[in-house]
Amino acid sequence: MSDSHWWRNGVIYQIYPRSFADSNGDGIGDLNGITGKLDYLAELGVDAIWLSPINPSPDVDFGYDVADYYAVDPKYGSMADFDRLLEEAHRRNIHVILDLVLNHTSDQHEWFIQSRSSKDNPYRSWYIWRDGRKPGSTPNNWASIFGGRGWVFDSRTGQWYYHMFAPQQPDLNWRHEPVRKEMMNIFKFWLDKGVDGFRLDVFNEYFKDDQFRDNPWKLGIRRFDRQQHVYDADGPEMMGVVEEIRSILDRYPERYAVGETYLATPERAVEYTGDSRLHAAFDFSLLQSKWSAQSFMQVVQRWDAMNIGDHWPNNVMNNHDNPRSATRFGRGEDDERLKVATAFLLTIRGTPFLYQGEEIGMRDIHLKCSEMQDPVGKKYCPAHRGRDGCRSPMQWDASEFSGFSRAKPWIKVHPNHVLRNVENQKQDAQSLFHFYKDILRLRKNSPALQEGMFQPITFEPKRLVAYLRQNETETILVALNFGRRKVRLALGYELANREWELLLSSQQRAEVGVKDQWLPLSGEEACIMKARN
Ligand code: GLC
Ligand code: CA
Repeated sequence: MSDSHWWRNGVIYQIYPRSFADSNGDGIGDLNGITGKLDYLAELGVDAIWLSPINPSPDVDFGYDVADYYAVDPKYGSMADFDRLLEEAHRRNIHVILDLVLNHTSDQHEWFIQSRSSKDNPYRSWYIWRDGRKPGSTPNNWASIFGGRGWVFDSRTGQWYYHMFAPQQPDLNWRHEPVRKEMMNIFKFWLDKGVDGFRLDVFNEYFKDDQFRDNPWKLGIRRFDRQQHVYDADGPEMMGVVEEIRSILDRYPERYAVGETYLATPERAVEYTGDSRLHAAFDFSLLQSKWSAQSFMQVVQRWDAMNIGDHWPNNVMNNHDNPRSATRFGRGEDDERLKVATAFLLTIRGTPFLYQGEEIGMRDIHLKCSEMQDPVGKKYCPAHRGRDGCRSPMQWDASEFSGFSRAKPWIKVHPNHVLRNVENQKQDAQSLFHFYKDILRLRKNSPALQEGMFQPITFEPKRLVAYLRQNETETILVALNFGRRKVRLALGYELANREWELLLSSQQRAEVGVKDQWLPLSGEEACIMKARN
């Protein structure tokens, strides 16, 4: 594949393999299921897929607890199935990005089994073992984001091991040279197989304070939120590792790495990126934004301004860890707001990330506490309902198990699948699916949308977001009405005097209709147009 900068101009679609498509009827999605849906993804118009972890895992955290980095979990298929998926994806010009979870392993990983067996086992220093401050007390005050203390006492050797996530996810000791070497081998192994890139799970957690100092306390409800995470994240050694990772990637053509910047500000995320660092790092501000024109605009302006020079923005509104945007923004089964949100996500500057099902407006499922599967939900329900909501099976059709599987899926299908599904939306030209597809097509054919400058044109009134995307050859105007009432956008003399061609509207408007320097917009309308002159 010779399309340079696919990751800059393209769109990346996240697949949660467990919930995407089940080919063998065991109720769990798998690799052959994904391969079977590549034509769908090509039709939608995505340029890459990122697969949440497919390595063998005891599934305490559904793949994010890895027991072997060099293999495929049999419940997802074989290595041959993976090779076929890769080949079939490439045949359709779809790149494949794997999720590498290198901050911690599963406690069932052979390295950890060795490590915990005795203090002088060669794998002892592969993990973070410490003596307690005094008998019965932890080495320091670090907490686990999944709840409680970050340390587990292991009576066999009388020491504590550290885990940022579940106790079954012990953190690796990246300061130990053999660990670092092994981690780099994992990159090479999958690069040699031909994968196009990686999403690095919580990469800025690899290095903790080497003196194990206590985090300062602050106000908060859960133990984890009552700390300032000064000493358990973002160790300065990480920059060197990021550079090493990049130098490995650069030995192969057009490979990509995006880091999941955990608990970080956008400023910090940007520092990890650049020509000699990662290609991208996530900023979750948009994902965390409420439904407000002002808030969306602030987020994009800040992030866009930071990503200049050798930094390139990426934009994300959904992933497998958060309530879906359709649940956050949608009213009932109405999708009009989602079209506005999508038009924004797909036309601001940067690489958009989509999450499976977002394109048909899937809503979160509601589970009883007894049905929870996610370790966070299990621990905190009903106070916190965990992350299962956004992990329900993909809704392909109206059949009993939504076309995801012929057997009962591992997690509940959303009851709305009888109406909200891919098959129905494909047949309805006004559906959210077609709206995604149409904008993705527009993006593909528009250098301004791919690489042009981002220029806000108004902030008035508050319910309106409007901006230009421009390069030397093309000017695109995007106008989004976040409110339910119709509004007029003041274009100003210069813009009003250009001739505009309507590219797309979420409200079936027939023409642009600029009048006396005003562009009228109906309630919750997303409108994209292009200057003819
Ligand atoms: C990341 C993943 C999340 C996982 C955690 C621990 O935040 O997105 O799903 O639980 O890392 O690996
Ligand atoms: Ca299966």
